[in-house]
Amino acid sequence: MNYENAVEAAEFIKSKYSKPIQTAVVLGSGLGAFADDIENAVKIKYEEIPHFQKSTVEGHAGQLVLGELNGISIAVQQGRFHFYEGYDMNQVMFPMRTFGVLGVKNVILTNAAGSTRTSLKQGTLMLIRDHINLMGVNPLRGANDERFGPRFPDMTEVYDKEFQQIATQAAAEIMQERLEQGVEKTSRLILKRGVYCALSGPTYETPAEIRMYRILGADAVGMSTVPEAIAARHFGMKVIGISCLTNMAAGMTDEVINHEEVMETGAKVAGIFKELLRRIISKIN
Ligand code: HPA
Repeated sequence: MNYENAVEAAEFIKSKYSKPIQTAVVLGSGLGAFADDIENAVKIKYEEIPHFQKSTVEGHAGQLVLGELNGISIAVQQGRFHFYEGYDMNQVMFPMRTFGVLGVKNVILTNAAGSTRTSLKQGTLMLIRDHINLMGVNPLRGANDERFGPRFPDMTEVYDKEFQQIATQAAAEIMQERLEQGVEKTSRLILKRGVYCALSGPTYETPAEIRMYRILGADAVGMSTVPEAIAARHFGMKVIGISCLTNMAAGMTDEVINHEEVMETGAKVAGIFKELLRRIISKIN
């Protein structure tokens, strides 16, 4: 997966959708419905795009959707490539690099994650303020091509501070409107903040592991996002991360964790999640 491959993929995408794109969005497990709101949508299956892989996970459509939202052109990944599927990190990062070559400036990465805090309940949306990479490998390991970014990229602020404020404000606006409409009774925040810890998967964690990750500073655990965030920052794109906390992490309740529950919770928060994304995209454009 070299730079020329990314140029080829970007050229192919441009041949199907020629408008400039400022913002790309990656939709996590159970959160794919956002793509249905896109107007004048052009959908491209991943297998059609040069050097993209096939998406193998249930709940991931495996396509790129290009089109408009409130008149703003966006690219939306309905499904992503995970390390646990057996792809190497270059394959996992490839869509980000293609976006970079396409001229995309901002990426919004979303995911389903398990909550390691009793204060972060199932169904909470969590703005990622930082991450811990425990996938066992740094995705940028290997020869560096300076066209993708520098050899030793800074990671002090992976998730853009200004964008975090914008997202928080967007969430507050939604809450205010819901209060006024009588949809909500309390002004509890709909968007919490926390640290996302990336693990390789595909197993969910053991209770002992969750206790360890909590001590290390994790508020949520998941199996994606961090390689993409690193690739995007490497390229100089700005990043927003949002986790949908689809379940309490292992050992926090008596229940076992399964993919169906993850998908169900995603569907339950879809309304507010879509509204939040819509506002963030308008504000950062
Ligand atoms: N652990 C890891 N990944 C996840 C979880 C979890 O509990 N829920 C959704 N993705």
